[in-house]
Amino acid sequence: MLEDIFQSPTSVSLFGVFVALLLLHLLHSTFSSQKRPEPPGPRPLPVFGNLFQVDLKRLDQSLFNLSKTYGPVFQVYFGPKKVVVLAGYRTVKEALLNQADEFGNREITPIFYDFSEGHGIVFSNGDSWKEMRRFALSTLKDFGMGRKMSEEIIIEECGYLIKEMEQYGGESFNNTQAISYTASNVISALMFAKRFEYKDPVFQSMVEKDKQNIHLAGSASIMIYNFIPWLGPLLKNRRTMLKNFIDGRADIWRKIEELKETLDPEVCRCLVDAFLIRKKQLEDSKIKNSHYHDNNLLYSIQGLFVAGTDTTATTLKWGLLYLTKFPHIQDRIQEKLSRVVGSCQVRIEDRKNLPYTDAVIHETQRFANIGPLALPHTTTKDVTLQGYFIKKGTTVLTVLTSVLYDENEWESPHSFNPSHFLDDEGKFIRRDAFMPFSAGTLLDLGISL
Ligand code: HEM
Ligand SMILES: *[C@@H]1O[C@H](CO)[C@@H](O)[C@H](O)[C@H]1NC(C)=O
Ligand SMILES: *[C@@H]1O[C@H](CO)[C@@H](O)[C@H](O)[C@H]1NC(C)=O
Repeated sequence: MLEDIFQSPTSVSLFGVFVALLLLHLLHSTFSSQKRPEPPGPRPLPVFGNLFQVDLKRLDQSLFNLSKTYGPVFQVYFGPKKVVVLAGYRTVKEALLNQADEFGNREITPIFYDFSEGHGIVFSNGDSWKEMRRFALSTLKDFGMGRKMSEEIIIEECGYLIKEMEQYGGESFNNTQAISYTASNVISALMFAKRFEYKDPVFQSMVEKDKQNIHLAGSASIMIYNFIPWLGPLLKNRRTMLKNFIDGRADIWRKIEELKETLDPEVCRCLVDAFLIRKKQLEDSKIKNSHYHDNNLLYSIQGLFVAGTDTTATTLKWGLLYLTKFPHIQDRIQEKLSRVVGSCQVRIEDRKNLPYTDAVIHETQRFANIGPLALPHTTTKDVTLQGYFIKKGTTVLTVLTSVLYDENEWESPHSFNPSHFLDDEGKFIRRDAFMPFSAGTLLDLGISL
C-alpha cells in the first residue's frame, strides 16, 4: 500500500502537498502561540502521539510521573488526540475552582456517547445537563430531609448486609458481591422505591454488567477506541459494553414502566416518581420542549446507578481492607464507637462526636483514590492557565492521584495516616486537597449520600 503511493507520480505530488501543508500548519501554530505558549509536553510521534511514553494500564501514575518532568500543566497526545493534563492540588484548584466555568464542560468520549447518547447527567452538557443535575440534586436532598430519609434506607440495607455476613459465622468469605448489592440497593431504593433480594438473578446480572462496564471503560482497548473511534467495530470490549448498555436500559425501563402504572401524583415515592410528576406538571401547563422527556429519565437513572454503585462499593471494600491491615486503627474506632454510640444504631448525627472515625473514613477515600483521573472535562472557551494557552474545546484530565498524594499538601502522602484529618487536640479538620469527588462545576453529585 505504502509502496504503491510512492510509485505513482500523482500520489508523490499529493504527498508533497500534504507534507507542505503539515509544515505550514506546524509553523503557523508555533508562531501564533508565541505570545501565549501552549503547555509543554513530550514530543509526539506522528499518528501514535505519545502513546509509547504513557502506560495506559496505570495512566494516572504515569501522568503524575510526567508532571514531574514537564510541570503541573502539560499536554500529551493520545494518538492524534491532544489532552491537557493538570497535576497537583494548586493547579487543579486553580482550574476547577477558580476558573470553574472555563473548565466545566464534560468530555463526551465515543464510549461515553455510546452510553448516554448525550442525555442524562453524567455524560451530557448544556441546558439539558444543567436541568437534570439540578433536578437530581434537589430530589436527593428532599429524600435526605423528607419522608423516607436516605439515612433510613441506608440503615435498613445495612441490616441485610450484616445478615448476609453473619451467615458465615465468623469464617472468612468473599464480600465483593454482597457489598455491591448493598450499594446498588441504596441507589435502587432512591430511584425506584424498591430493593432487590441479593439472590435475585436479574438484579445480580444488572450489578455485574455495570461493574464489567466500569472495568472495561478503563481498559487499554477502550481508551484506544476513544482516541481512534473508527476502530470501534473491531474491538471486542466495545461490543461487550454496547450490549451491556442496551440490556441495562431495558432493565431500567421495565422498572420505570411499573412505576408509571402505579403513579399517584400526590405521593412521590422515589426519584422516578418525582421526574414523572414534574413532567406531567409541565405538560399540563402546556410547556413544550422541556428537558423532562423519557430519554433524560432513562439515561439519568442509568447514569446514577453507574456513578453511584461501584464507587461506593469499592470505597467500602478498601475501608474494610484498611481496618484489617491496621488492626490498631480498627480497635481505636471500635473503642470510640462503644463509648459514643454503645449498642444503639450509629447515625449520621453521631459523626460530630466521632472525629477519629470521620478521619479514618476521609483517609480511606484519600488513600484508596478510586477515581484517579476523575472524568474528563473540556474547556468551554479559550483560557490561559499559569501562562499557558488552552484552546476552547480542549480535553482536560485532572490527575486526582497527584492531588490526593500531593507532597506539598500531605504530611505523609504515601502512608495511611488518619492524622491527616485531625488537629493536635484530636478534632476533625477538613483538608483542601481532599478531592476524591473532584471539584467545581462537575463535582460528584452523590457526596451527601
Ligand atoms: C465514594 C463514592 C464516590 C466517589 C469517590 C465519586 C467520585 C466522583 C468523581 C471523581 C466524579 C467526576 C467529577 C468530575 O468530572 O470532575 C463523579 C461524578 C459524578 N458522580 Fe460520583 N462518586 C461517588 C459516589 C456517587 C454516588 C453515590 C452518586 C449518585 C447518587 C454519584 C453520582 C455522580 C454523578 C451523577 C456524577 C456526574 C456529575 C456531573 O457530570 O455533573 N457519585 N463522582
Ligand atoms: C512512575 O515513577 C516511579 C518512580 O520513578 C516508577 O517506579 C513507576 O513505575 C512509574 N509509574 C508509571 C506508571 O510510569
Ligand atoms: C471475590 O469475588 C469477585 C466477584 O465474584 C471476584 O472478582 C474476586 O476475584 C473474588 N476475590 C477473591 C479473593 O476470591
